[in-house]
Amino acid sequence: MRILVCGGAGYIGSHTCVALAGRGHQVVIADSGVNSSSRVMQRLQRLVGAPLSMHRVDVRDRRAMAALFATYRFDAVLHFAALKAVGDSCRRPLDYFDNNIGGTIALLQVMQEAGVRRLVFSSSATVYGDPSQVPVREDAALQATNPYGRTKLVAEQLIEDLCGSDPHFRAANLRYFNPVGAHPSGLIGEDPCGEPNNLMPYICQVAVGQRDRLQVFGSDYPTVDGTGVRDYIHVVDLARAHVDALEYMVGADRGFTVNLGTGRGISVLELVHAFERASGRRIPYDVVARRPGDSAEVFADPSLAHALLGWRAEHDVDAMCRDAWHWQAQNPQGYRSPLRRATTPRVQRPRAVVARLAGA
Ligand code: UD1
Repeated sequence: MRILVCGGAGYIGSHTCVALAGRGHQVVIADSGVNSSSRVMQRLQRLVGAPLSMHRVDVRDRRAMAALFATYRFDAVLHFAALKAVGDSCRRPLDYFDNNIGGTIALLQVMQEAGVRRLVFSSSATVYGDPSQVPVREDAALQATNPYGRTKLVAEQLIEDLCGSDPHFRAANLRYFNPVGAHPSGLIGEDPCGEPNNLMPYICQVAVGQRDRLQVFGSDYPTVDGTGVRDYIHVVDLARAHVDALEYMVGADRGFTVNLGTGRGISVLELVHAFERASGRRIPYDVVARRPGDSAEVFADPSLAHALLGWRAEHDVDAMCRDAWHWQAQNPQGYRSPLRRATTPRVQRPRAVVARLAGA
């Protein structure tokens, strides 16, 4: 299939482009560049082994998007293009509404005009707010606790309404838990702008010496060791789920919503210790007050994704930490780091390297 990947130069989008190409799909990227590096393209091409089409377009720019749809006949759209920092969304909610909700509306309109009726949407476990029960199932109560969360919830709802109005429109809402890690080649990974908001990129920056110490937000939660518990999922597993969802949708007579997580909760300190083992570096930390808005424990029931798509997460927390560290050690400044000639996957036999890249 020929797939438009909106936000394909970002963290999860770029890994999904590799997975799509590995399964023989043709990828066209539309990315505004607001939260991604133009250097990701050269890395992606090296991974995929073929030129990729990349267009610097904001999904809100209906004219430019319509021109893209007129140039290519897309079979489906994957929509990653959104802002995603919770604190930032509280400071400038209108920008989040405009980008995430306005962007989704514009994209859906252009899709409808072009007669493209398959969408895979990047949603988030944030739509569950502070869940009353774990593991969290897809039929749990939905609730927005901040402007970012509201944009995901509203976008899901407006996609559902569009599906209600057009029996041929199919959408897959993928609710991500906590994506971490990087492609095992070390060529692409997470490159946050400024101070990371999320735990894993923060740990990586401490490990590489860019930050002195981690702050652990609270150690008095009713959890295994008092620190917050989350469901971390390797980004390569998450990327594969998008291709599974897309291919499933082609034969399905309706859309669907699934959780994407491992189903296993890991505490902040468990993740810190796993990272120390994987990297051989010590992660100094201080326990500080709880972060407002945080839940004690959030992890998925991922059984619906397995039942529908045959998908399940394959990488454990050690693999997540190993690959996150490999990316960070190879690229201490993220994409601003020079592309090393010697950067290859840590798989010795060339045939295995090719197989792994193609399947990742
Ligand atoms: C956060 C967002 C959530 C968003 C998700 C992915 C909040 C309240 N929630 O979720 O809406 O969907 O990121 O972008 O911001 N932690 C530390 N020290 C740190 C950073 C985090 O101890 O420097 C702890 C947190 O308290 C939490 C765990 O690590 O217990 C994971 O935090 P984080 O990576 O921010 O993810 P979420 O809290 O799940």
